This record gives sequence, C-alpha cells and structure tokens, in this order.
Amino acid sequence: MIKLDYRRADAKIIGAEHGLNIAEEFENYKEQIANIILDLNKRKDKPSQGLQWMNLGYSEETAWYVKEYAALVENRFDNILVLGIGGSALGGLAVTEALLKPYWNFLSKEQRNNFPRIFFLDNIDPDSMEALLEMLDLKKTLVNVITKSGDTAETMAQYMILKDRLEKELGDDYRKNIVATTDKRTGILRQISEQEGYKTFVVPDDVGGRFSVFSAVGLLPFALVGIDIDEIINGVKDMDLALKNTDIYHNIAAQNALIHYLLDIKKGKNISVMMPYSSRLKYVSDWYAQLWAESLGKNKNLNGEDVQVGPTPVKALGATDQHSQIQLFNEGPNNKVIDFIRVENFDTNLEIPKIFEYTGIGYLGGKTMNSLMNAEADSTKITLSDYSRPTVTISVDKITGYNMAQLLYMFEVQTAIAGALYNVDAFNQPSVEQGRNYTYGVMGRAGYEGSAQVLHEKMMIV
Ligand code: PA5
Repeated sequence: MIKLDYRRADAKIIGAEHGLNIAEEFENYKEQIANIILDLNKRKDKPSQGLQWMNLGYSEETAWYVKEYAALVENRFDNILVLGIGGSALGGLAVTEALLKPYWNFLSKEQRNNFPRIFFLDNIDPDSMEALLEMLDLKKTLVNVITKSGDTAETMAQYMILKDRLEKELGDDYRKNIVATTDKRTGILRQISEQEGYKTFVVPDDVGGRFSVFSAVGLLPFALVGIDIDEIINGVKDMDLALKNTDIYHNIAAQNALIHYLLDIKKGKNISVMMPYSSRLKYVSDWYAQLWAESLGKNKNLNGEDVQVGPTPVKALGATDQHSQIQLFNEGPNNKVIDFIRVENFDTNLEIPKIFEYTGIGYLGGKTMNSLMNAEADSTKITLSDYSRPTVTISVDKITGYNMAQLLYMFEVQTAIAGALYNVDAFNQPSVEQGRNYTYGVMGRAGYEGSAQVLHEKMMIV
C-alpha cells in the first residue's frame, strides 16, 4: 500500500555531485542493514531498550480495553479534549486530522455520526487555552490527559486548570470527565489518578512519547471519535511483518533510512523536508519532525564520542509551499533531501467547472483538483531534479486508517534504522530533560533548586 520511489535521489538522474549511486550503496550496506534489522527485532522484547513500540501492532489487549471504554462513554460527550505535548499529542493530531472528515469540529453532530469533536491542547498559550475553555461546554467534555512521565509541566499545568474548572462546574461528578493515559506505575499523574479514582490507560514501558501513537496514547482518542482502531492495528502489524525483512531490496524503511543517512554524511544534505501533497496529512510533517529531530539529533554516539549529528527536519505542504519555500529548495543551498508524500486517490473527485474558456485559465475547466494536485507534485519533483536536488516520493494509494498506520509505522522503523546508522541512541532525549529541569527549578519545584541556581547564574552572565 505504501510505495517508495527513490530514483530522483540517484546520481543517474540528479548527477554524481548531489546524488547517490544507490545500487552500489545498497550492495555496500546490505549486510549492515540486515544486522541492524535483526538486532532491533532481537532486542525489542528486552527491557530498557526503548523498543516496545515494535510490539504495538500485536497488542490486542490494549485495543480491547480502549474499545470497551469508548463504547461505555459513547454519546455522553460532545467534545474530547486531549492534554499533552510532544509525543503525547502529535501522533493523535496527525492521525485524527488525516482520518476524520476535514473540518470535523465544524460539522454538526449528525454529520459526525454522533461522535464528539476533538481538540488537542498541545501548548500553554494562556490566550488560546482560555478561549478554548470558554468555547467548550465542560459538562459535555471528556478530558484525556496524556503524559508518560506524569509530571511534564505544560501538561500538568493544563490538567490542574481543567480539574479545577471541571470540579467547579460538575461538583463531585467531575471525575467521570477525566481519563488519564500515563505510566503503569510511576509518576505524579499515576499517583493522582489513583487517589482521585480516574479511569486510566497505560503508556507501556519502553515506548517513548514519539513512538507511542499506536499505544493507548493514540488509540484512545481515535476510538473516542469513531476511528476503527482494529484497522489501525492491522496496518501496524502488517507493516511490522513486512519490515522484518532483512533484505534491503525488500524493506522500504531500511531503504529510506540509508538514503537519508548517506545523503547527509556523503552529500551534505542535512536538512530533511517532509512535504505531503494533502492537507489532511499536514500534521504528519509535524509528527515526523519530532520523530526525526528528537531521535537523531545527538551530541554523543553510542561509543560516547562527540559527534553532534542529526538532520534538521523541515515541515512543508504541497501545493501551498510551492508558493513559499520551493524557491529556496530549488535554488538555495543544495543541502536538503525532500520527501514527498503523494496520495494517489483522494476521497473526493472535485471537478473544476468549464468556465472562462475564452481566457488564460480556460485550460483548467473540466479538469479535477485531484489531477491538478498530482500534476503539481510531479512538476515540483521534476523541477527539483532539474536543479540537482534529491527527492524521494512515498505514495499512498488512499488515506485510510490502515494506510496511515503503515505510513507512520514505516517512519518509526526508518528512524530506528537511521539511529543505528548514525550510531546514536534514537530513544532518549537528554537535552529536552535538561530544559525541563531548568523550568522546574525556575517554577520552584522542590528538588530542582540546583537547576534554578545554575539557570539564574547563567542568565546573569548574558
Ligand atoms: O518523545 C518524547 O519522549 C517526548 O517528546 C515526550 O513525548 C514529551 O516530552 C512529553 O512527555 P510526557 O509524555 O512525559 O509528558
């Protein structure tokens, strides 16, 4: 269902200065790639490897519990409000935006088949948060607070505001409007949930936030708005089975990981542009940006040496960004590889009326927006190769739950393989933790006085 076309990253088409000899590279790397895939699959069940996300396609139990709860609360709420940040929000946002009917939250209840609206509050901007809370009828809102660590300041601050407001509006009943997704045992949210008696779901051990979309982190919001999570799980499982293939010639995640890695280290393409040609896939770029950046941007390799590696992801949207960033991609520094995501069949066939035939826009009449979109994707791709810019095209035949699961899971495996090629730990984010600790210190969290002190001293210097 997902196809990868990397011909336009090849020297044969874009020239040897900027393109790779892909056939030769696949031969050179086939053994290393096979070993990486074997190693990932060997380590995935071991604790502390950060690889439990590779088992999420087989986790029928989670899907069962999620469906049971979704059925229980069906028709009780008009709104789902997801509180979370980073990996606790971006996967949910990417998948719901892709699979729900566009402008879902503006549709009537009937048009939504009685399923609720869904909002992701993934920032702490006071103006937008207050505006959203004023708009929502909190009595009819189910708050899904998601944090693996259970103490992320942004998410917990949001939760505290919501808990307070719900309690004021609903009295003792407010607990039924909160469902928490967090670590099984540890963390403040787990502790609070137990004290308060919330319904909870688990972020499994060894599943980092950015790899958690197919755990309850994503599955619960999906099921609550009527997305078929069995279809999602099947897509993950089938892609996982396909990507167990250790032969680089038959493993698209390995191919794309290797191409991106080599374009970076050999050809200086250290910027990775993700450009879907579909508005519904816009947030896939946001999700990918976090996955790629947080996983691969590291200053030490696995041998403890200073390396400071990691391609910089850039989000773009076709055709919109053809009128914004493409000028730079074509003519600016040749330091990028551009991934197009192309949707072969849109749900709608939208015809352009045959009017103004006597003018310069008459040629558009009788064509479809669909053909215009894909003609633009092709034209952009060819123009980029005219300028010797490497691109790869990932084709999806249609936007379905199955295909979305395949696509996102493919990127997860690609990231894990790229991590191994860069020889970095793709599953930690030490400097994000450092920033968190400073924030905790500044905001007066007990135990972080040292971080506050260091921060204050450093701020005085500048
Ligand atoms: O990928 C990650 O691990 C991070 O982006 C986290 O998802 C993010 O920092 C939020 O963390 P938590 O889920 O603990 O609130």
